[in-house]
Amino acid sequence: MTVAPKAVVLGGRTGLLGQALVADLTRAGWQVEAHGREDADVHDSAALEKYICSHAPDVLFNAVAYTQVDKAEEEQDAAMRLNKSLPALLGRLACTGNMHLVHYSTDFVFNGRKETPYTEDDETAPQSIYGLSKLAGEQVLLQMNLPRLTIIRSSWLFGPGRGNFVQTILGLCETRQEITVVHDQVGSPTYTPDLAAGSRLLVEKGGTGLFHLSNGGQATWCELAAEAVSLAQKPCQVRPIPSAAYPQRATRPAYSVLDCSRFTGITGIKPRPWIQALREYIFQHVGVAGQEAG
Ligand SMILES: NC(=O)c1ccc[n+]([C@@H]2O[C@H](COP(=O)([O-])OP(=O)(O)OC[C@H]3O[C@@H](n4cnc5c(N)ncnc54)[C@H](OP(=O)(O)O)[C@@H]3O)[C@@H](O)[C@H]2O)c1
Repeated sequence: MTVAPKAVVLGGRTGLLGQALVADLTRAGWQVEAHGREDADVHDSAALEKYICSHAPDVLFNAVAYTQVDKAEEEQDAAMRLNKSLPALLGRLACTGNMHLVHYSTDFVFNGRKETPYTEDDETAPQSIYGLSKLAGEQVLLQMNLPRLTIIRSSWLFGPGRGNFVQTILGLCETRQEITVVHDQVGSPTYTPDLAAGSRLLVEKGGTGLFHLSNGGQATWCELAAEAVSLAQKPCQVRPIPSAAYPQRATRPAYSVLDCSRFTGITGIKPRPWIQALREYIFQHVGVAGQEAG
């Protein structure tokens, strides 16, 4: 009989991705410890070390991050602390505890000037503090030369358990007959249960290093919104607008579609199209009548 692997998922209680990881790993028969703020303060290195070591995981998943892209422009120190210093600490703990560390990064490490999908070898050039802080986290970990490190860049997450773009759009449709959404940013929407399952597969296959993982295909925010509204059968018009008509503090890449062929090469899995994953999310978790059911 094989022993079930043990995992600690930082951010597993409340994070959008963290909850999906806990659900997927549990379903796959792993022993999973879902971490929340109340278990150990991620800024208290001694408390965090004690917490992680007490569970002695084989794999440590880090789904904690500073993810407020616009707020990060004014809170650079807070973003750096969570997105760079925390991964550095986890890298040291993973090394001494002989754990496989799985860490997440973002398409926002790119400047968006390419017109074909970004590979892991493409040059990074973040346009925002959030992107800079996430890139710093990648770099600090890669420089440690850990024997078992997997960094997964993903993009445009949606899924059950926490607020996300799709949920926001459907919520707006409750009170408006028309919404406007930017149509000049193109990316790869990603369903968190698919990202979680892909992360587990990578670990099971011994995939280490840097990977891109998103759902297949591409969309603009407007296309994603329109598809969600249509699937949820909301009586709401979705109208395209340029980014210039919706100013945000942080600059987003105009194009950030991710090439996932390195992931496919290791796992043999080609991520399914985002539109198929969106259908599953809306039909299983949101329903056509109202808000997310859970
Ligand atoms: N969301 C996206 O579209 C997207 C796209 C590309 C990459 N990513 C990356 O994917 C990973 C997961 O993102 P996500 O969207 O799942 O994040 P999320 O839903 O915002 O969750 C972040 C997690 O970090 C925790 N956290 C934040 N600040 C904390 C603090 N000061 N102390 C302790 N815990 C704290 C949160 O806990 P509380 O709930 O208690 O605040 C939550 O569990 C991140 O590395 C992110 O950069 C996300």
